[in-house]
Amino acid sequence: MALDIFKITGPVSLDGTVTISGSKNAALPTMAATILAPGKNTLLGIPNLSDISVMCKLIENMGCKTTVDSNTVSIDSASIDRPFGDYEIVRKMRAGVCVLGPLLAREGHAEVSMPGGCAIGYRPVDIHLRGLQELGAKIELKNGYIVAHANSGLKGANIFLGGPFGSSVLATANVLSAAVLAKGKTVIESAACEPEITDLANCLVKMGAKISGIGSPQLIIHGVKHLNPVEYTVIPDRIEAGTFMAAAAITKGKLKLKNCRPEHLMAVIDKLRSMNVVVEETEDGCEVASNGHIQPTDITTLPYPGFPTDLQAQFMACLCLAKGNSVITEKIFPDRFMHIAELSRMAANLRKEGPHIIVSGVEKLIAAPVMASDLRASAALVLAALAAHGQTIVNRVYHIDRGYEKIEEKLNAVGAKIERQSV
Ligand code: UD1
Repeated sequence: MALDIFKITGPVSLDGTVTISGSKNAALPTMAATILAPGKNTLLGIPNLSDISVMCKLIENMGCKTTVDSNTVSIDSASIDRPFGDYEIVRKMRAGVCVLGPLLAREGHAEVSMPGGCAIGYRPVDIHLRGLQELGAKIELKNGYIVAHANSGLKGANIFLGGPFGSSVLATANVLSAAVLAKGKTVIESAACEPEITDLANCLVKMGAKISGIGSPQLIIHGVKHLNPVEYTVIPDRIEAGTFMAAAAITKGKLKLKNCRPEHLMAVIDKLRSMNVVVEETEDGCEVASNGHIQPTDITTLPYPGFPTDLQAQFMACLCLAKGNSVITEKIFPDRFMHIAELSRMAANLRKEGPHIIVSGVEKLIAAPVMASDLRASAALVLAALAAHGQTIVNRVYHIDRGYEKIEEKLNAVGAKIERQSV
């Protein structure tokens, strides 16, 4: 693994146009779902990211063939030799667990590693397993692997997917992807409504699945005998778009975002407006412009359509420079605060009280060496560095490369001063 660093010189004010890439979090479960449709599937708009390469490797290890050409990934899932998800792959990327439902539905059995630890806190998979058990799977844990069998096939059922923090995004993906080939009718209650799940469901429908209630917390699925391979374009990445919105705000700049779907970012746009940032919709995206000082605001992360946890860190960086105090409450991953210590190294004024962070706005942030700890926390450090005085060194940028396509190229094209160095 290359231990690249970013050297970021600030402050800058960003100005220009950024094209948003396809959604990583829609692409990953959709790639896994191609296992359900034997033959040549073509997915378009797939971002060129290390997580996507990891998913290709996972699928290839089962006997499928994958080819990547720019932003198109072709997956030939005609034959599966081994319904197996290796620990060495799944430990690198939790979304690897998304192959469990499709493998079980197609092959009647699957063996997939339990995901590894995660810097944003403990992330169990009990809801995934409970949902698949309701469909008739027998599941046991052996040597760190989830071993699942459905020897006489999966059967439709009424399934409640709610958990302690609301619904689960990837559990919904897993159970939905299994239910489309189950015998009879499945009703999933408390399904995740995130746009990435809607996108997955739309792709499954294109393959021939029968799903209604798409986009709502109740999904009704009538199982079919087989699915056909598809050509499908994934949605733009709303988290990348939200990150660039935050970049415009923190640098007091102006960015035009193309290939962005503002309807997927309503809670985020609402917060930006209350922070004194101007957001206007355009034909294929939106324009985000500073209107002077950032005003403080309170943010609580919630399941969609609430404010996404995946933008909590980036908005915390912005609020560090607000004129007053803000409170950020994390309701999805209560321990997702690794960025606080690093932002504090850059002279931010942050105090943790349980799941709340009190952000007291400061006049300026000051450059410092900082350490990226996870994907979105790293993005927050890059944003803070764009606004900070001096040269910030962000270590371990491989975390950012997991989820942001060409981030330094895109930022440099609109006025950032970021240099990547291999150390
Ligand atoms: C997905 C996203 C991630 C995002 C998260 C929440 C992908 C690849 N990842 O992750 O970027 O931050 O949604 O929007 O799409 N939980 C359980 N038991 C389970 C599953 C989840 O208790 O079996 C809990 C989690 O610990 C967490 C909450 O439910 O507190 C929501 O997690 P979940 O929606 O499952 O996140 P992921 O799908 O893993």
